[in-house]
Amino acid sequence: QELQMNLEQIEKGGYEHFMLKEIHEQPRAIRDTYRGRLLRDEAIIKMAGVEDNMKKFLNANRIIIVACGTSWHAGLVAEYIFEEFSRIPVEVEYASEFRYRNPVITENDVVIAISQSGETADTLAAIKLAKSKGAFVFGVCNVVGSSIARETHAGAYTHAGPEIGVASTKAFTTQITVLTLIALRLARAKGTMTSSNFRLYLQELELIPQKVEQLLKVDEHVKEIAKQYLLSTNCLYLGRGYNFPVALEGALKLKEISYIHAEGYPAAEMKHGPIALIDDRMPVIVIATSKGHYEKVVSNIQEIKSRKGKIIAVVTEGDTAVKEIADHVIEIPESEEAFSPLLTTIPLQLLSYHIAVMRNCNVDQPRNLAKSVTVE
Ligand code: G6P
Repeated sequence: QELQMNLEQIEKGGYEHFMLKEIHEQPRAIRDTYRGRLLRDEAIIKMAGVEDNMKKFLNANRIIIVACGTSWHAGLVAEYIFEEFSRIPVEVEYASEFRYRNPVITENDVVIAISQSGETADTLAAIKLAKSKGAFVFGVCNVVGSSIARETHAGAYTHAGPEIGVASTKAFTTQITVLTLIALRLARAKGTMTSSNFRLYLQELELIPQKVEQLLKVDEHVKEIAKQYLLSTNCLYLGRGYNFPVALEGALKLKEISYIHAEGYPAAEMKHGPIALIDDRMPVIVIATSKGHYEKVVSNIQEIKSRKGKIIAVVTEGDTAVKEIADHVIEIPESEEAFSPLLTTIPLQLLSYHIAVMRNCNVDQPRNLAKSVTVE
């Protein structure tokens, strides 16, 4: 028993929980994921799985992304990035819906399956279905040699390392990293991005790990904010564009580990429903990065303010307008908007973590949830 405890302590590397350790591992995990693939000096991206199947990607009528849970959110971020960079139409589907709805799939479709564990039953079934219809299936997995990694035609691993906490953190940011690399590679192959922009994006992507490192210093500040909201019963997360999926992921994290009901919404949809929920007991987390439809998000924040909602805003360093209205601001380093999810996600992970710890929840093994769902 004692030996077991000590082993676990060692595995946690000095952190109180695996989740916190894994949040802090993200700079390294993201770097490991692009290492050897992103070659800035040569201005190329090298990914064997993509290179070997370039024709299939270039001839694709569309890309269909299938996944579950947090991986599905990474898929949504990828949709925005693929369409913007490579101008390929993308659909993102819950694997569980896709597999049972007789989807239209042809030999000219590329299906990308995203899965941390590589064992999720619904995702595996979706892959088998897509293969039976003749589609080319590409896997983005973290666990090497997993069922999904073996079942797909080709793929690219995330190099996040083992993720123990049930709530996914570093798997999410590394999935986005791999998918971004693919989108950039395809953009160059298709000529949908100029070589100077391509170079700029490579440079920016390479800087993300150090920005995450810098950003992790907000931990204490986020903990202070967490103290004020740990008794909330509901919480709303809003974002636009690339950060809409981050809002969904932020809400999922809070639900999973703190058992507080939370919803993520595209900020502009607030007026079609969630605004009715806002009162002085409702914390609203808003992602308001400087390059992401900023003015529009600021006006959404004003709408929340006038209904007395409590605003926790994630803003870009140097922001002034939101600071004046929000109850709390969390600053993130400046970056290209397309890469901002890799940054904005971090404080939301920390916020959920601290709230859950303060509520005495079992952060690493939340009730009713499993790390990998191998049954329907
Ligand atoms: C479970 C886990 C989630 C994960 C989802 C998909 O629900 O608790 O953290 O996002 O499965 O798992 P996968 O391994 O396919 O990414």
